Amino acid sequence: MRALVFDSFGGPLEVREVAAPEPPQGGVVVRVAASGICRSDWHAWQGHDPDVVLPHVPGHELAGTVAAVGAGVQRWAVGDRVTVPFVNACGVCAQCAEGQHQVCARQTQPGFTHWGSLAEYVSLEAADVNLVAVPEELDLATAAALGCRYATAFRAVVQVGRVRAGDWVAVHGCGGVGLSAVQIAAAAGARVIGVDVAAGALALARDLGAEHTLDGSGDVPAAIAQLTGGGAHLSLDSLGAAVTCTNSVRSLRPRGRHVQVGLLPPAQGRPEVPMDRVIALELQVLGSHGMAAHAYPAMLGLIAAGRLDPRPLITRRISLDDAAAALADVGSQPGIAVVTSF
Ligand SMILES: NC(=O)c1ccc[n+]([C@@H]2O[C@H](COP(=O)([O-])OP(=O)(O)OC[C@H]3O[C@@H](n4cnc5c(N)ncnc54)[C@H](O)[C@@H]3O)[C@@H](O)[C@H]2O)c1
Ligand SMILES: [Zn+2]
Ligand SMILES: [Zn+2]
Repeated sequence: MRALVFDSFGGPLEVREVAAPEPPQGGVVVRVAASGICRSDWHAWQGHDPDVVLPHVPGHELAGTVAAVGAGVQRWAVGDRVTVPFVNACGVCAQCAEGQHQVCARQTQPGFTHWGSLAEYVSLEAADVNLVAVPEELDLATAAALGCRYATAFRAVVQVGRVRAGDWVAVHGCGGVGLSAVQIAAAAGARVIGVDVAAGALALARDLGAEHTLDGSGDVPAAIAQLTGGGAHLSLDSLGAAVTCTNSVRSLRPRGRHVQVGLLPPAQGRPEVPMDRVIALELQVLGSHGMAAHAYPAMLGLIAAGRLDPRPLITRRISLDDAAAALADVGSQPGIAVVTSF
């Protein structure tokens, strides 16, 4: 099969023929119809993820059709249209037993713990626990975004961030995760402020429901305090950088909630979180990691009802041959790029 491969961290990304995977016990092989280019793929390529073994095929934000079914799989058959949360849970560990599959102790992740979906085929573990059927009315390019960034934003805003109608929500970094968060928070009745350094990203944030947008290179906490009369109720770092993490915490009003979604690999330096402020204002500092497959029906229901619409987030459909450039340059153009031809 054709796949995007790298042999060294930060080194050349090239499309080449590699062996196609076999379905693992309890798992499936999916023929990839669409794979989004997420900043986490860039982190994998840069060597920020200790799970990645070289040579490696990145890609984890996918949708496609089941091509082969491993022994013991009950719920899925060849031809089923599916997506999958990038955290593939084991289904049996203590975290999974409590329904917290997104922090499974024995999780696998395509594109990190094994070869990923920037390829014609990808193997996925524990299919009965993790696969999500893609509704008829959703095209597979849009469904790919549900495998990582749209679902991650849904959990961050709704489940971890506990957004309420009327809340001020600040979103620091309006890329794939951030724009999804803007739309989801606005649909929940929140008043959203999008922050980015790119004019195109801010324009798309306004289209997706942001009431205000701010240039991230200014004094962001001060501007948010002024717009909101005292700070945001909920604020997300949806880039993963010292500046956006610190700005997000500093953007909050008393008892506000910060949700960290952007990855902060130690190699990039630790952000300075003002813990004095966390105490004095009783702030909540929360992490959010993907979303369990069993939590998808609530999100899919809102999509089916027309309350959420991930389609406008997909701004570019590209081929596998263009994936290397898109991965190296992730975040440089507004919206989500999805590989749809392999
Ligand atoms: N926690 C999770 O489960 C999870 C899931 C998916 C992605 N992630 C992580 O979330 C982060 C975002 O991923 P993405 O694919 O949406 O990224 P992206 O590259 O699409 O978007 C990043 C955005 O941040 C903007 N930006 C750059 N500097 C900025 C600054 N100083 N202030 C404000 N905005 C700035 C960029 O212009 C861009 O629009 C990454 O770290 C990714 O690895 C985490
Ligand atoms: Zn991702
Ligand atoms: Zn588990």
